[in-house]
Amino acid sequence: MVEKVNQAVIMVGGMGTRLRPLTETCPKPILPVLDKPCLRYLIESVASAGIDEIILACGYRYPQLAETIGDGSDIGIKIIYSFEDEPLGTAGAIKKVEDKLKDTFVAINGDVFSRIDVTEMIKEHFSSNAAITISLTEVKNPCEYGIARLEKDGRISEFKEKPKPEEVFSNLINAGFYIVQKEVLKYVPNEGQYDFSKELITDLMKKDYRIQGYRYTGPWLDVGRPSDLIGANLMAAESFSEFSEMPSTETQGSTLNGPFYLGENSSIENSISRSSVIHKNCTVKDSDLTGSLIMSDCRVISSIMINSILGKGCRISQGSVIEDSVLGDGTAVSENTRIVRNEVTE
Ligand code: GDD
Ligand code: MG
Repeated sequence: MVEKVNQAVIMVGGMGTRLRPLTETCPKPILPVLDKPCLRYLIESVASAGIDEIILACGYRYPQLAETIGDGSDIGIKIIYSFEDEPLGTAGAIKKVEDKLKDTFVAINGDVFSRIDVTEMIKEHFSSNAAITISLTEVKNPCEYGIARLEKDGRISEFKEKPKPEEVFSNLINAGFYIVQKEVLKYVPNEGQYDFSKELITDLMKKDYRIQGYRYTGPWLDVGRPSDLIGANLMAAESFSEFSEMPSTETQGSTLNGPFYLGENSSIENSISRSSVIHKNCTVKDSDLTGSLIMSDCRVISSIMINSILGKGCRISQGSVIEDSVLGDGTAVSENTRIVRNEVTE
């Protein structure tokens, strides 16, 4: 029988180091995807699958995150906050809220951008009687993730977090969604850091607990690196442009190729955009954008951007080139500056 599962813990306490300097002013889960905090997409998708209580396990820049995400009342759910002074690791963070948890709950890495359907996962979980069910997706470079060996009956027989290239035995990786039986938390120590995928999963496998895999084949990104934050914005822009038309006055004289999004109050004039996204209140003029993301309140004049991100409120003056770089909120770049991989080269 499929029992009703209505509770999720979302782990959002990480420092977001790979996304510095953006995460120096904004915690990773609320970095914007089309002018909306990335975590909102995740919250809305689990809420539509019937989850009406979400515990956010926070740490880094907690007040800013809580202020942005709110208490869930706007979408008819309850959001509760748990805060760690020191990071407890992803399993330690769940252990901290153990007394609030029901027998079966959903746990999610808060930086995942996907269309994983928790309803389907919950069904799979109960039909296999697993202790934990893990979502799995296929990627080309599995070394940055946790890899799983999946048996014919759906059981995971081997798991390795962040394998070295010579250790890779599978392209199926942990996609960051779990259905969990609360009883397994007895193996999580009360003190110190303890990681869900790196430690708890492998410890449970040694104790012969059933860990089930749930295969997911749709779009998936871990918004942990700059290229993935751009990717999440492009992925969202692709579905956005299916049902919206850009007002022509705001894109005057511009050529727009590939996925594109232009936020409210923004304009792009006499420019080229190839797979790029511009958030609200921006002005882009006489410029050339490729694979780039421009967050709100920026101004880019007569410049070139390639595979780069501008944080909020940046100013790029004419004749500049920004390539493979991430500029933090409020950066001002003077005329004719060339920045490649975050270094000024001319
Ligand atoms: N509360 C809390 N406390 N949250 C944490 C902590 C902590 O100590 N450490 C990390 N988190 C949060 C992060 O904010 C993020 O949302 C999520 O937990 C996962 O942490 P990452 O640091 O992003 O992990 P990862 O991307 O290197 O690897 C994990 O995710 C991959 C898929 O996205 C692993 O679970 C891999 O196995 C998995 O493939
Ligand atoms: Mg991650």
